[in-house]
Amino acid sequence: MTLAVNAASSTSSIPAPRIVVLGSLNMDLVARVPHVPEAGETLTGHSMATIPGGKGANQAVSCARQGAQVQMLGCVGDDAYGSALRQALQQDGIDTGTLRTVTAEATGVALILVEDNGQNRIVLNPGANGRFEVDEAALRQQLNGAAFMVAQFEVPLPQVAKAIRVAHAAGCKVLLNPSPVQAIDQPLWPLIDTLVVNEIEAKDLSGHTVNTPQEALVAGQALRAKGVARVVITLGAHGAVAVAQGGASYHPALKVRAVDTTAAGDTFLGALATALGEGQSLDEAVRLGIRAAALCVQQPGAQPSIPRRDAVLRSPMPPDWTVL
Ligand code: RIB
Repeated sequence: MTLAVNAASSTSSIPAPRIVVLGSLNMDLVARVPHVPEAGETLTGHSMATIPGGKGANQAVSCARQGAQVQMLGCVGDDAYGSALRQALQQDGIDTGTLRTVTAEATGVALILVEDNGQNRIVLNPGANGRFEVDEAALRQQLNGAAFMVAQFEVPLPQVAKAIRVAHAAGCKVLLNPSPVQAIDQPLWPLIDTLVVNEIEAKDLSGHTVNTPQEALVAGQALRAKGVARVVITLGAHGAVAVAQGGASYHPALKVRAVDTTAAGDTFLGALATALGEGQSLDEAVRLGIRAAALCVQQPGAQPSIPRRDAVLRSPMPPDWTVL
């Protein structure tokens, strides 16, 4: 049986949640191309741009633009890209006092090819992101009063694992986006409050192929069985599926013309984290994420394409969600 549900979200009187984002900062070197070149082919691109990105930094920017009070933990190199990335976060009011500048290491760089259909392909050189280390005592203090600690896998996995253990012990909820995907040790699963994955990550971690909402439900249930409380599986242009103890729901996406999907997942995650931090339900939070991501894909680049809350609230409502 399916049941249609439609909820409005309004947040005017809700205090800004505090969110600590731990993760990567990259300078994105973006070439727009008619298609991906074959081996040995030299291709003339349409354009080339240098744009602030990195999954951690993008998610921090998305949280801040949705109204959260954000602190970013990560590493940049002692170079021009590092300064530019730090400044970009500061322009969004993000606390960068906990960003470390690593000497004798280059800032992370992502080489991104964006095809005419908006799809991207990314090659990452982690640089200073690979030097990220968690200071347990400092992290405990930073997490004090935070609604969520958000993390991804573009910084070393053992450090993310350490941070998850610290956050859980400190009573701070963990929202994990295991991207680029790597196996998660079994003892970590129950320490994660909300896992956000795309179809590929869901398949890798659950063993179940994900092409449809029903398949996402099966994968989400398998991931919940590992111990995580809530799972959100994003399905690109098809929307997202949310699986929690109370049940599961399918949220269709808005139909829009994508010019660049870079940072769409990060935008979704930041809106989701902020709405959850405000105390909204998982379904309302997913809905906000879908609206934010729909705006993101209509603009080129990572951080410049991440919308602010007022723009998201002015944007069209997605179709009703259905209970799975
Ligand atoms: O999620 C998009 C991001 O992935 C890009 O900004 C790029 O830096 C890579 O990390």
